[in-house]
Amino acid sequence: MAQSVKGTRDLFGSELDWFQRIEDTVRRSFHRHGYSEIRTPILEEIEVFKRSVGESSDIVHKEMYDFFDKGKRHVAMRPENTAGVVRAVIQHQLLATSDPQLLYYIGPMFRYERMQAGRYRQFWQIGAESFQVSTPESEAESLVMLYDFLRELGLAQLTFSINSVGTPECRPAFHEAFRAFFRTREAEFCEDCHRRIEENPLRVLDCKNARCQAALEGHPVLVDFLDPASLEHHVRLKEILTTLGLPFEENPRLVRGLDYYTRTAFEVLSTDLGAQSALLGGGRYDGLVKQLGGPQVAAFGWSIGLDRLVTLMQQLHGKAPRQAPPVLIPLGPAATLKALELARGWWAAGLDVVLETRGVKLKNALTTANRQGAPLALILGDGELDQGVVAVKDLTAGTQETWALDTVQERLADLRG
Ligand code: HAM
Repeated sequence: MAQSVKGTRDLFGSELDWFQRIEDTVRRSFHRHGYSEIRTPILEEIEVFKRSVGESSDIVHKEMYDFFDKGKRHVAMRPENTAGVVRAVIQHQLLATSDPQLLYYIGPMFRYERMQAGRYRQFWQIGAESFQVSTPESEAESLVMLYDFLRELGLAQLTFSINSVGTPECRPAFHEAFRAFFRTREAEFCEDCHRRIEENPLRVLDCKNARCQAALEGHPVLVDFLDPASLEHHVRLKEILTTLGLPFEENPRLVRGLDYYTRTAFEVLSTDLGAQSALLGGGRYDGLVKQLGGPQVAAFGWSIGLDRLVTLMQQLHGKAPRQAPPVLIPLGPAATLKALELARGWWAAGLDVVLETRGVKLKNALTTANRQGAPLALILGDGELDQGVVAVKDLTAGTQETWALDTVQERLADLRG
């Protein structure tokens, strides 16, 4: 029997209910802040990711699903969506004026990762990207939207972990100091870090190896190498977060696994699942639009792992609350035709009703209705049809009453509240 590909999964039932509830909340709350949705293709030319996420990053180096298509184009299934959104805003000249562009997306991403709990090879992200915004205040606005959205989902134990990774101009001095530090304890670092220290020293700070993390004790910190404007930006953001009551801690090792960040980089940690884990990450990427062929434009954004969010929701709240609709059970061909007409009117009025169309015996139809959790069964036999009524069985209480057919729509609407 064919099985889904390792690291991918089918979404249905209660897990999908959570996906949809979260997506509804995203749309409602992000629209409130003036964000519009953007949908970009899953396939992009591989260069889009190499030139943005970075060749030295694990994502591009080890985890990309890339291949040559039948036209011999080297393409990749997007491992993330910031690069694709940047490619799109350049291609469609959405940055022609200095007006802010506020965009969000929800969609699947692909990374050929080592399998472990909570990590998938096809996973979903919710992301928000804002362009033409350079101030710490604009970052705070985006973080407030994010924080309030997570709070609306019922998450309480949230902390922002923040750092400033500075600008490309202030990095050479940091790299030099950091390489000098690295040389003093070279032997303690893993083989990958020996490659990283040459290609991109920041990646060493991000190494998952516990020995490397121990060897980093006392390392030079980026914030000490910031130019005055970047330092002011960093200090101002922290002031605003404090005033707004958004909990944060500084983490001088937070550099994130992607190369495009400038100044602010952050993650949101949650202890709602017990052990602390990163729910999402993001930051400022002022150089990326230019790097991909557009104008020099300030930009800031973040992406949430939707799969992780759903796991959290399931652990915190169990199944997504869902009320199955009442079921209309006609008995016999004349009643079935009438039921189709009636149900059509109720659907048009915006009511939820499931129509039993199998022509099965009442007992079987009621068993199915009970299994599906229907609160009411509306039974329409020839007798009811003659009298212009429907028998209504309350499937929870087991009681039964009779409703006049011309009152059903109103009563169903009242029940829905
Ligand atoms: P990222 O940190 O690579 O950032 O991914 C963001 C989030 O996606 C992670 O915090 C995690 O929740 C989720 N995620 C990543 N890989 C997996 C996986 N294999 N399985 C399940 N969830 C996963 C970015 O992608 C940037 N584009 C964020 C950004 C937007 N920066 C600026 N704008």
